[in-house]
Amino acid sequence: MASRGNFSSKIGAVLAAAGSAVGLGNIWRFPTEAGRSGGGAFLLVYIFFVVAVCLPLLIAEFSIGRHSHANTGSAYRLMSPRSGWGWIGKLEVTTAFLILSYYAVVAGWTLFYTVEALFNRFNVMSRGDAGSSIFSDNFNHFVTDPLMPVICLAAFLLITHFVIIKGVKSGIERSAKVLMPFLFILLLVLVACSLSTEGVSKGLSFLFQPDFSKINSKVVMAAMAQAFYSLSLGMGCMCTYASYFSSETDISRTASQVCILDTIVAVTAGIVIFPAVFSVPGLEPDAGPSLVFIALPNIFQKVLGAVPIVAYICSLAFYLLLLVATLTSTISLHEVVTAALSESRQISRKRAALLVTAGCFILGALCSLSMGVLGDFKIAGMNLFDLFDFVTAKLMLLIAGFFTSIFTGWVMSKRILYDELTNDGTVKFRCFRLVVFALRYVVPICIGIVFLDGIGVLNIF
Ligand code: TRP
Repeated sequence: MASRGNFSSKIGAVLAAAGSAVGLGNIWRFPTEAGRSGGGAFLLVYIFFVVAVCLPLLIAEFSIGRHSHANTGSAYRLMSPRSGWGWIGKLEVTTAFLILSYYAVVAGWTLFYTVEALFNRFNVMSRGDAGSSIFSDNFNHFVTDPLMPVICLAAFLLITHFVIIKGVKSGIERSAKVLMPFLFILLLVLVACSLSTEGVSKGLSFLFQPDFSKINSKVVMAAMAQAFYSLSLGMGCMCTYASYFSSETDISRTASQVCILDTIVAVTAGIVIFPAVFSVPGLEPDAGPSLVFIALPNIFQKVLGAVPIVAYICSLAFYLLLLVATLTSTISLHEVVTAALSESRQISRKRAALLVTAGCFILGALCSLSMGVLGDFKIAGMNLFDLFDFVTAKLMLLIAGFFTSIFTGWVMSKRILYDELTNDGTVKFRCFRLVVFALRYVVPICIGIVFLDGIGVLNIF
């Protein structure tokens, strides 16, 4: 396997994996889900799942990837050749392709909004007499347009494409090393802006004071799906990246760092968004997905408009943040499919990347059009975009996570797992039994219960 790429440093490996994890999921989805599910209570359930379910699974995906040194599509088959487990890898690669197709649509929106912020369009809009409706009109007009979102989708996919064809070291690792520190700086700028708004105490208490009466089956399922999604689990992203880890990378430490960084970014995004939301009378934190594209541009102008340059910097910083976070995630999704395609069909990386980009563009364009001209085409009451999101993010992730835990807990040799976690006995790992216990029992049972409860078979929470 000499021709495969490798991350050249430990920090490169952590930043690339954290780049995959930190994305729209943290900045767009987390505040939306938390807002809908009562804030603090959601956060507690979420943290429980990150520690008890996602961390062991992340360790499992890392171990499979690094041990097999293969793309996700072949990794499971290589780990256990004569059993029938190879299909999990194939399922994960297919789902990564589907996720990328609709994820890139929203990624295109972030590109559009960054350009709007750059040209100070939000300030111009807020000066008109139409009030806040102009922001929702602007968003609806944009997403239902047949051309503009598709152009933005193509542009975003092309940027991702160019990083991917540069390879693992000079493309993925280098971009993560530049983009991730930039992302943290942007977040700090935004926290400073947000903490100076009037809604700060209301916003923070919404996020940090749990109201346990808000916890029900929907909240539990949403928190678990969100934790999976945010940590890029169940789609082979982490497995593929780990196949580029060097033999010195400490898997359990890297996994913990990724979980911590990812959770910090999600909570910080909440700290940025909720005080801003509570500063404008009449706006509620459960506004849903439109929060980021409709409410926020308006909020920045209203709350910080007294000093126009601050409103400008905040709007631009926010959409740049979203753009950067999204890019490092689309890169990881693209890499899963490109690596699997090029290695299994033995075609060049460039050719595989081109096929993936073209395929995602076609599916993504259909998803994008399903919000406008193809809006009448519905399956199970959902348009194509919502259907992709539901099937991949709510169902497939949990199914793949369930089988990954069964595979690593019951099928894969414990010797291999131990050697991976201790780097062949050279680093100490005291929690081995705990991880195996979690993978055998805690993870599959939690996923099973939450899944069945979420689809209405059980009625527990
Ligand atoms: N984790 C990313 C986010 O938070 C999205 C993402 C990238 C993802 N790769 C994934 C989600 C794999 C699920 C599975 O935005």
